[in-house]
Amino acid sequence: MSLRVLPEILINRIAAGEVVERPGAAVKELVENAIDAGATRIEITLRDGGKSFIAVGDNGCAMSADELTLAVKRHATSKLDGDDLTHIETLGFRGEALPSIGAVSRMTVTSRKVGCEEAFAIAVEGGRVTGPAPAALGRGTRVEVRDLFFATPARLKFLKTDRTEFAHAQDAVTRLAMAHPEIGFTLSDGDRQRLNLTAAQADLFEGRRQRLAQLFGADFAADAVAIDATREGLRLSGFAGLPTAARRTADRQYLFVNGRPVRDRLLVGAVRGAYADVLARDRHAMVALFLEAPSAFVDVNVHPAKTEVRFRDAGLVRGLIVGAIRHGLAGAGVRTASSVSDAALGAFRQGGVVSGQTAWSGHGGGHLPRGHTGRGLAEAAAAFQAPLRGESGFQGLGAPEAPVPFGDGPGQAEEGMRDVESYPLGAARAQLFDTYIIAETHDGMVIVDQHAAHERLVYERIRSAMVTDDNGDGDGNGGGGVARQILLIPEVVELEPGAAERLTARADELAALGLLIEPFGDGAVVVRETPALLGEVAVEGLVKDLADEIETLGEGRALSERLENVCATMACHSSVRAGRRLTGAEMNALLREMEATPNAAQCGHGRPTLVHLNRTDIEKLFGRR
Ligand SMILES: Nc1ncnc2c1ncn2[C@@H]1O[C@H](COP(=O)(O)OP(=O)(O)OP(=O)(O)O)[C@@H](O)[C@H]1O
Ligand SMILES: [Mg+2]
Repeated sequence: MSLRVLPEILINRIAAGEVVERPGAAVKELVENAIDAGATRIEITLRDGGKSFIAVGDNGCAMSADELTLAVKRHATSKLDGDDLTHIETLGFRGEALPSIGAVSRMTVTSRKVGCEEAFAIAVEGGRVTGPAPAALGRGTRVEVRDLFFATPARLKFLKTDRTEFAHAQDAVTRLAMAHPEIGFTLSDGDRQRLNLTAAQADLFEGRRQRLAQLFGADFAADAVAIDATREGLRLSGFAGLPTAARRTADRQYLFVNGRPVRDRLLVGAVRGAYADVLARDRHAMVALFLEAPSAFVDVNVHPAKTEVRFRDAGLVRGLIVGAIRHGLAGAGVRTASSVSDAALGAFRQGGVVSGQTAWSGHGGGHLPRGHTGRGLAEAAAAFQAPLRGESGFQGLGAPEAPVPFGDGPGQAEEGMRDVESYPLGAARAQLFDTYIIAETHDGMVIVDQHAAHERLVYERIRSAMVTDDNGDGDGNGGGGVARQILLIPEVVELEPGAAERLTARADELAALGLLIEPFGDGAVVVRETPALLGEVAVEGLVKDLADEIETLGEGRALSERLENVCATMACHSSVRAGRRLTGAEMNALLREMEATPNAAQCGHGRPTLVHLNRTDIEKLFGRR
């Protein structure tokens, strides 16, 4: 074969290979062009998932006949000023999308500038250009793409079902629409309108909230904290989902850099890092985050489809993201996702309370339904009457207890009742199954899983104590460290062979966590002090479990790497675990602690530690609303 320069048509087809890999990619390019053209309204139609037909119409600045001729030429763009690639403010800049699409399809571009007498259309079929010629169009630009990939049959074979291809296109539109709430979008599959997003009239922040609600329902923003942080000229804003609203897949992670949707490893990694403490590895937070940076800080010219970027200072970006999300979540305090309450309400309903009204109608009024659901309700009813009959399994508190802070005795119980409203988690009213605390808040009720909550408190407290151990000696006591309490009688714990050595080898690390142990002869340790925040501790069980934990950890890795597990182990052996009766004062103390602790609304694995039911929800259950 001889060495030759490829003909233009072939060059464009090769370029099309990377720029338009599927119908959704063509849609993305065309919508980006419309956005760059300043459109306020963009209408998109696909047929057969975009395989047979794509149309994108806009009301943007449009093109003259001469401009149309240039627009479908390779490397022709109106978006680069001079020869500077460091200040790109538009979505497009490569001058490749239209010629690439035209090289592999039958494309027509029709356009009419404002004030122009007539519209012009140019056609490109498999790379061959005809026109421009006069045409009919109100204003703006309309691009129609038929038979995508007819000229490259190999690519056709790689396309998925119409449904899947449509979903890809919808995803592309969704992402661009999120970044531009000021633009109205419609998306149709030829038969049905699948998206109808009206332009938001509000400011950017509120506009984004509205757009997110249009796209994902009101829950998305309701179950998220608003983020707005700046660092050295960078700004991060948007919404970060509550851990309790996390999902099994990362499909609701939307990241934008200067209005450009990106799928960037660095950004995704930073989000993961920000949630590391509050989410299990296989859970993914929902986020919609917008990073604004000076254009010179970002290199967008690293990927043909422009979905990846490089940052001049990746560390700065990561720091901003991790810091802003963590701060936002910590500020969320004891909020959990509304879906958690909804699930609880749903369970109540299934339990026969609401839907039961219809279920009961067949039984003649007043009869409880039979079977499981009915029993659940009957049990609940019995439980609520239990204290009156003096039965166990339920602890009624009689007179309302005051919310008392940790350490204060029940002596202060009488005062402060009027303050209940000022406490987000309200006042404890009862304990169920020795496991759940029921509290009344100013606008509803809260059910707290005392064990999960306590585990979270222990973790957060130990973690913050370790972080503030700033004199660096690792003893945990330098900067206020994990406070220890001295055991009146030191406890000797016999261990399996090898376990005692493993434990004592980590005596310093354990001391930093508040546990003071020393070797005690062969195969035993003596425990002298325990973490104060655990309260009364079952020392033997704790030490044995920690020995197991250390064994699975392996040598050479710090206990703090598995702080989550270590803290969970500790919390398991403290006095506030599931299955223990708590006094009213203890319950209130736990609630107050939760309010004061960041991320207290979920345990370390993103499970909720509490469920909140609004008064209105409760009233709905009983048909009062
Ligand atoms: N909808 C439109 N309204 C007005 N002008 C358009 C529109 N679509 C394309 N153009 C013009 O055609 C040119 C070429 O578009 P094309 O998408 O091929 O390249 P680009 O947007 O400049 O860069 P990229 O290849 O990165 O998208 C644009 O620079 C713009 O001037
Ligand atoms: Mg473009």
